[in-house]
Amino acid sequence: MTSAPTHAKGLEGVIAGETEICNVEQSALIYRGYEIADLAENASFEEVAYLLLVGRKPSASELESFENELKSERSIPDSVRSFLKTSGDLVHHHSAVPMDLLRTGVSMLAHLDPDCQDNSPEANLRKSKRLLAKIPTIIGHMQNAIDARDFIEPDSSLSHAANLLWMMTGEKPSDEAVKVMDVSLVLYAEHDYNASTFTSRVIAGTLSDLHGAVTGAIAALKGPLHGGANEAAMEMLAEIRADIGHENDNAKIHAWMEKAFADKRKLMGFGHRVYKNGDHRAPILHGLGRKAAEARGEEFVKLFDLGEEVQRIMETEKNIFPNVDFPCGMTYYTMGIPVPQYTPIFVASRITGWCAHIMEQHANNRLIRPRAAYVGPATRNWND
Ligand code: SDX
Repeated sequence: MTSAPTHAKGLEGVIAGETEICNVEQSALIYRGYEIADLAENASFEEVAYLLLVGRKPSASELESFENELKSERSIPDSVRSFLKTSGDLVHHHSAVPMDLLRTGVSMLAHLDPDCQDNSPEANLRKSKRLLAKIPTIIGHMQNAIDARDFIEPDSSLSHAANLLWMMTGEKPSDEAVKVMDVSLVLYAEHDYNASTFTSRVIAGTLSDLHGAVTGAIAALKGPLHGGANEAAMEMLAEIRADIGHENDNAKIHAWMEKAFADKRKLMGFGHRVYKNGDHRAPILHGLGRKAAEARGEEFVKLFDLGEEVQRIMETEKNIFPNVDFPCGMTYYTMGIPVPQYTPIFVASRITGWCAHIMEQHANNRLIRPRAAYVGPATRNWND
């Protein structure tokens, strides 16, 4: 080593590489030059997926063929369907959770993908589109099996977001629900070197294959300090609701929060390694989710009222702000989505960011291999 070791725990603040895909700053969140609020307002998830994977905004004809290609790739192989039929047993009678089943399903798709061992840009793009198209089908079939019902097959008349909702429930979603889902997929799609994306780049950096890198990323995203926080945030709000009762008594909410602070609990859906003054995505999703709650009824409005009081206390007493996972939990709950599918839906979106980074890593690779500062025992002899 030529210079004294410099390291930051958790690589905090370390620039670990360059990317053309995304910029995450206090000032703005940008996907390939477009601000997140602009994309959430004006672009569909399919357009954002094309932007991330191909590198530019699609023309109308490019978008149409991209959408059609995704629709044509929604079905999954029989062996994966057979595995997913066991989801109910694995979840209800063993220790599987949907994120684990999704990880296994994606890993199985590798064995049946003709391009699996080919890391060329063309093959990687083909694999990225297949995974983007098939992950919602894995989620849907898994949920069907957990609900002990027959598989609901993909519907090629539906958009990506609408088809995801359709396959989980068997009901054609309302335009409003599709819009909320579509925007949430846009918001979740990409976020520079977050833990799961960095995991995918480390794996791709050894010249391992795209499916392997995505499988590792899914495992990383599951953790409640990362993508798993959207489920954990809703579980936390359910715990508060159970403790304080059906009415939102602010004194009781405040007492619950004070005890959480005293117990040094991490409040799920709050804080961020980069954003210290708030997550650009959170207010966008919160606004949409609150509107959905007002349309759905009093129980869901009360949930958002509770969440907003928790948020007010965190901001005023701890100067800690909600990240995207906090409004996501309340929003997906309002939409009737089972809590254990919140992070798998995050995967259905972030597959676009992960694949963009894997392709960027393969295209201009250097093995990612940092050093460690040794703090163990001084050199000693075994026979002493
Ligand atoms: C995502 O990286 C990304 O971009 C991720 C993501 C993406 O799109 O890919 O944005 C998605 O993962 C969002 C984050 C979801 N995770 C959570 O909501 C889990 C709860 N949050 C915390 O665990 C925490 O805020 C992290 C992990 C998100 C960030 O942690 P850091 O940067 O390591 O900060 P820290 O843990 O060192 O906290 C600094 C201080 C600490 O106080 P002290 O111990 O120094 O006294 O702030 C406190 C923390 O205790 N703190 C919290 C808190 N977050 C920070 N205290 C209570 N509740 C929290 N949520």
